[in-house]
Formats: sequence, structure tokens, C-alpha cells
Amino acid sequence: MNIIFLGPPGAGKGTIAKKIEEQMGLPQISTGDLFRKHIAEETKLGKEVKSILSSGELVPDSITTAMVKERLAEEDCAQGAILDGYPRTIQQAKDLAEFATVDVVLNFTIRKESVIKRLSGRRVAKGSGKIYHLIYNPPKQEGVCDISGEPLIQREDDKEEAILNRLEVYKAQTEPLIAFYKEEGLLRDINAEPAIEQVVEETLGTLKSL
Ligand code: AP5
Repeated sequence: MNIIFLGPPGAGKGTIAKKIEEQMGLPQISTGDLFRKHIAEETKLGKEVKSILSSGELVPDSITTAMVKERLAEEDCAQGAILDGYPRTIQQAKDLAEFATVDVVLNFTIRKESVIKRLSGRRVAKGSGKIYHLIYNPPKQEGVCDISGEPLIQREDDKEEAILNRLEVYKAQTEPLIAFYKEEGLLRDINAEPAIEQVVEETLGTLKSL
């Protein structure tokens, strides 16, 4: 089963995807995480996309799709995957249809004010990939990852200017996917406003009902 997680930055896609991965055994493919890994490892691709990610713009479709296609061909995706943050343009959605079947698109809905609160308080552990929030999902010890013990950092694109740009980019380039997948009968809305456990419950309920 291939599941697409759609929604604005900060809706909680990564947080919920990690929980669904644990429960359903489907790997989470986060294009943002893949790009950030390339940046951390200073690969050729990483150097190419570093400034794009910091500004909140989108990486060109051809680069992004090639990376996803390669990842989906790996053995752990044989039963499907959770596509977290891909596709993000109509072109990417059309490209994806050429090499994979989409079973459902979960559209995480949230107000702009909540997004800004979530992103400005987000802290992440680079090594373990765990996502925290200063208020909504704090670590046991302030500033330190519960799993790896590494210091928590703020993402470069979680600074105010980049957040606002990401919201504009989402509206212009990604929001049209809602109508695109609605038309295909694949869209299911998930209310992303409640606490994490409730959003996980609604997500699992929706997936089980399919
Ligand atoms: P990406 O990393 O995918 O960023 P994004 O879509 O902007 O999503 P985020 O990771 O910011 O948010 P999220 O919805 O996962 O929220 P999270 O779970 O962390 O992409 C980064 C960049 O890579 C893009 O800007 C672009 O440059 C590039 N890129 C990626 N994909 C691309 C593509 N397909 N094409 C082109 N370029 C691409 O949660 C946010 C915070 O809220 C956390 O602190 C969390 O603890 C908290 N939280 C989560 N859920 C709840 C809840 N229910 N209640 C309270 N707090 C919550």
C-alpha cells in the first residue's frame, strides 16, 4: 500500500508518519529527510540543494522524482511506503503515477496560526531523526534527544522568514494537489489540530477503513 501524506509544513506529517511506520511496518520516505541527509553528508546533491532548503523553495521536480524513484525501488518498499512530502507539485504527481500506484492520499488539515506555533517551537535530533516541540512534545531532558542523547537543533528553514515563504510555496504549488487527488477519489482529510495521539488514532482509523 502506498500512502501519500499531504499537508502544509508543520502539519505533523513527519511525526504521524513515524508512528504509522511503527504500527503498520511500512517505511516512511520523507523527501525532506533524504535531502537533509545529503546536505549533512555533503554529497554533490546535498551541495546543490542546500540553499534551496534553507530558503523554503522547492527542489526541481526532476531531481526530487529521481531520488524517490530510486528509494521506492529498494527492497523494504516491496509492500508499499508512506510518502511524506512527495509529491508536492502536479508534475511530481503525474511523474509518480508513471512508476507507482497510489492507494490513498491523507490530507492533514491545520490552521496557519497552529503551523507557525508548531514550526517555531520544533526542535530535531539530526542523528536519531526524532522530532520534538518545546511545548507540545518536549524531550525528557531539556535540549537533549531522549534516544541518542545528542543536542537538539532548530532547522534552518524553521526561522520566521523561511516559514512564511514555505507557506506561500505550499499554497501556490502543493495545495492544487488536493483537487487533483480529490478528482481521482483518493483524498481523505485528517484533522491535524488535536494532540498527536488523537491524530494518530484518526489516521489509523482511516487507513483501516479502506
Ligand atoms: P520537509 O522536511 O518535508 O518539510 P515540510 O513539508 O515543510 O514539513 P515539515 O517537516 O516542516 O513539517 P511536518 O508536517 O512533517 O511536521 P512535523 O511532524 O515535523 O521539506 C523540507 C524542504 O525539502 C522543502 O521546503 C523543500 O525545499 C524540500 N522538499 C521536500 N520535499 C520536496 C518535494 N517533494 N519537492 C521539492 N522539494 C522538496 O511537526 C511539526 C512540529 O509540530 C514538531 O515540533 C512536532 O513535535 C509538532 N507536532 C506534530 N504534531 C503535533 C500535534 N498533533 N500537536 C501538537 N504538536 C504537534
